[in-house]
Amino acid sequence: MHTAAPTRYADAAFQARCGRSGLHLPKIALGLWHNFGSVDDPAVARAIALRAFDLGVTHFDLANNYGPVPGSAEETFGRILREDLGAYRDELIISTKAGYTMWPGPHGDFGSRKYLLASLDQSLKRMGIPYVDIFYSHRRDPHTPMEETMGAVATAVKSGKALYAGISNYNPADTARACALLRDLGTPCVVHQPKYSLFERTPEAGLLDVVEKEGLGCAIFSPLAQGLLTDRYLQGIPADARAGKAHGFLRPEQIDAAKLAKIRALGEIARERDQPLAAMALAWTLRDRRVTSAIIGASKVSQLEQCVAAARSAPFTSDELRRIDALTLG
Ligand SMILES: NC(=O)c1ccc[n+]([C@@H]2O[C@H](COP(=O)([O-])OP(=O)(O)OC[C@H]3O[C@@H](n4cnc5c(N)ncnc54)[C@H](OP(=O)(O)O)[C@@H]3O)[C@@H](O)[C@H]2O)c1
Repeated sequence: MHTAAPTRYADAAFQARCGRSGLHLPKIALGLWHNFGSVDDPAVARAIALRAFDLGVTHFDLANNYGPVPGSAEETFGRILREDLGAYRDELIISTKAGYTMWPGPHGDFGSRKYLLASLDQSLKRMGIPYVDIFYSHRRDPHTPMEETMGAVATAVKSGKALYAGISNYNPADTARACALLRDLGTPCVVHQPKYSLFERTPEAGLLDVVEKEGLGCAIFSPLAQGLLTDRYLQGIPADARAGKAHGFLRPEQIDAAKLAKIRALGEIARERDQPLAAMALAWTLRDRRVTSAIIGASKVSQLEQCVAAARSAPFTSDELRRIDALTLG
């Protein structure tokens, strides 16, 4: 069993209240979408998870389909819990989700009650735990009544298999509706998980307003645009980087000359701020007080450490924000 660093809560400001709920999330959370699958080195995965917890990163974000193979990230994390972190379960925030393709047939995808509740049972079994802290509807299912999908999330909470309800990738109108339904069911939504970064600013067009109005926390994902908002790709595509791996969701064709020029220009602002681009990109997402937490991915312990340090960045000047907007809006 791992002995956690006694300093893990030394920086009290690193733990942020999730909306109006009693739940607190670390400003930087660790996502297990990549680097924790059965194709990855389990020793590296373990080292990243343990270092994260020692640094106060209490939230580990999973989903049924994370791997590859789908489900294997939950198995990897289950092993880490069993062998290393299990004694700290009451300090850990473990989230999982269902909403994307997991098994064949009409009940292995999207948002039916049958899919969500069966999937949650499978996730708990893979991780070897009786409950998760947050259960998310991973995406809105346009063909299933939202009453059914939210009813399933509420059942997960009422059954004790999840402590809190969450939604991910819901647009502003659907978010408001999901919140109303979950409130009526007595299991209020506490958190939204949208994609937000310097390269993905859609949440600014309404979603963050709804999040605030509904009293939700906001745990944003891919704050580094899967690694683009770092120095990773400035000299080409390294074989060990996400875009260099056959199973990575970032594809080489997403890294073109125009994008690289923006990354270099953003890197210049970061240099003036005396911080790495990755740290500036994370600090920028956290500058908005409606953003509770940024869920990062990491393939190395050193990346994780740099990301966690970003939570203590200097505030942005209005000139920096203006220059960043000029590079990333439109
Ligand atoms: N709800 C949803 O629909 C949804 C969708 C996607 C993701 N998520 C969640 O969000 C989490 C994070 O997503 P993400 O992995 O795309 O996040 P990200 O933080 O945007 O990208 C992570 C990648 O950036 C690179 N990186 C991280 N720190 C770095 C540093 N300091 N210097 C240089 N490179 C660095 C690494 O790339 P290399 O691996 O190339 O080294 C790392 O794998 C996921 O694990 C998942 O939990 C949720």
